[in-house]
Amino acid sequence: MKRIFTSAFVLTGLAFAPGFSTAQEAAIYSGMDRIHPAWAKNGMVVAQEAVAARVGRDILEAGGNAVDAGAAVAFALAVTLPRAGNLGGGGFMVIHDAESGDTKALDYREMAPSTADRDMFLDDEGNADSNKSRFTGLATGVPGTVAGMQMALEQYGTMTLAEVLAPAIRLASEGITVTADLADSLIGLENRLKAWPSSEAIFYKEGGAFFEPGDTLVQTDLAATLQKIADEGVAGFYEGETAQKIVDAVAAAGGRISMEDMANYEAIMREPVTGTYRGYEIVSMPPPSSGGIHIIQILNTLEEYPIGWLGSNSAETIHLMAEAMKRAYADRSEYLGDPGFYDVPQAELISKAYAADIREGISRSRATPSQEIKPADLTPYESDQTTHFSIVDKDGNAVSNTYTINFSYGSGMVADGTGVLMNNEMDDFAAKPGVMNAYGLIGGDANAVEPGKRPLSSMSPTLVMKDGAVYMVTGSPGGSRIITTTLQLIMNVIDHGMNIAEATEATRIHHQWLPEVLRVEEGLSPDTIALLEARGHDVQVMETMGSAQSILVDAEEGLLLGGADTRQTSSLAVGY
Ligand code: GLY
Repeated sequence: MKRIFTSAFVLTGLAFAPGFSTAQEAAIYSGMDRIHPAWAKNGMVVAQEAVAARVGRDILEAGGNAVDAGAAVAFALAVTLPRAGNLGGGGFMVIHDAESGDTKALDYREMAPSTADRDMFLDDEGNADSNKSRFTGLATGVPGTVAGMQMALEQYGTMTLAEVLAPAIRLASEGITVTADLADSLIGLENRLKAWPSSEAIFYKEGGAFFEPGDTLVQTDLAATLQKIADEGVAGFYEGETAQKIVDAVAAAGGRISMEDMANYEAIMREPVTGTYRGYEIVSMPPPSSGGIHIIQILNTLEEYPIGWLGSNSAETIHLMAEAMKRAYADRSEYLGDPGFYDVPQAELISKAYAADIREGISRSRATPSQEIKPADLTPYESDQTTHFSIVDKDGNAVSNTYTINFSYGSGMVADGTGVLMNNEMDDFAAKPGVMNAYGLIGGDANAVEPGKRPLSSMSPTLVMKDGAVYMVTGSPGGSRIITTTLQLIMNVIDHGMNIAEATEATRIHHQWLPEVLRVEEGLSPDTIALLEARGHDVQVMETMGSAQSILVDAEEGLLLGGADTRQTSSLAVGY
């Protein structure tokens, strides 16, 4: 074993990695003679935005546990990564408590208002109106993030809400330095944000001019909203002045959230969904996420194939993965929804026997046309606006958290006077059976809109366990690609023996049954693509997918190894 305490990227002749601001943070651990960009001995945070990652690291170093750090990172990201970090959205957190050995799945997904109805996104002709479900007040579900962080802290944390909010309050009131990434996204999402004067006033300069990298962005209203939560607890968000401002803003935009809906919101602590893969235990998010079930279903399907021997990103491996993915996404459209409203056949979907039946239908040499699996004709949009972070503390507790406001900057609307960007998560419901959402995903009754229901999600915060201890913490944004990105992180490590940096950077593929496209990132060889096309796949090289933020625990060496995805320029793995 070799350890090299210098910049990996100087040694390898590459430019200094984005996200690493000091040589210390880019110091490397070179286990297995291959480079890990980040390591730590005690605790580690890997997140899509560096300032928030350091907030979490500081909490760990000061004696907080993984859940304390997780809540602090979540609040900090609401300030530093406003396109995805949030107070106005929701998400999922998988929490492992090392002392009891227990793992729980915290559901703080947004909820449909009590006056929601099945046809609320249809136009006068009965057609799904995507503008209604994405860019009006109707798009917004009752937000869950604040209640979720409070429940996580209450049940597993050691710090108060006020303590974990303090860094976020400081960042919002004193201002953050605008990164190139933030400046770019504000240019790209100009139309969405400037549709709302309350948003334009915060995210653009006088006269609508753009922030430049290096400028300071102060979010005064957001600081006051965060301070109110610190002073009054969750009631400071779900009741009183802040709740009223959110209700008024949503109503003015044509939406239906009431003060009662806000006050009645509750996070739910659920049992995770579990499976096994080649001797490892996979622990992930149950419904209303589809992620955990389908990651396990796809792994079950692939387990009997010699994937490691077939090789990483070989045509045969990709073919088998795509075939397994198509069948899982077909099931998703039919069987997945909020378990409080629909009896999701979870046990059947994750059974090894069902996976064996799926394998029966897979040809090694020919792609099954999607129409033969289930008919439809869809085209997805591009979207990458959720965010994930992974944390392990010195005691072996772990947090795997993915949360979102759905689109980049959600509906684009800041609830006036709160600084809070509101989600457009209602678009994750099936507006009408068979009609795609923004990710090209379709659904039916299981995911139809109902009052108080949570829209189906693909967010897949996941733990991989080995001998009862955490081995890997992983997850990603990426809409419908979240499931397949997280799957590939797991397979790259378990099947292909990659270290966490290699597993994170490896070229990704995705198939979601419909549309019938095998989507791949730049980096597959033309001969691999030709071999896949010869099997009948429609291969399309498209933009990068996901932004996985992962930690691998090397128990033998007593090291935490971080993989921060360089697909997003401000990602950082940082520990102590
Ligand atoms: N809004 C994306 C998801 O929850 O899957």
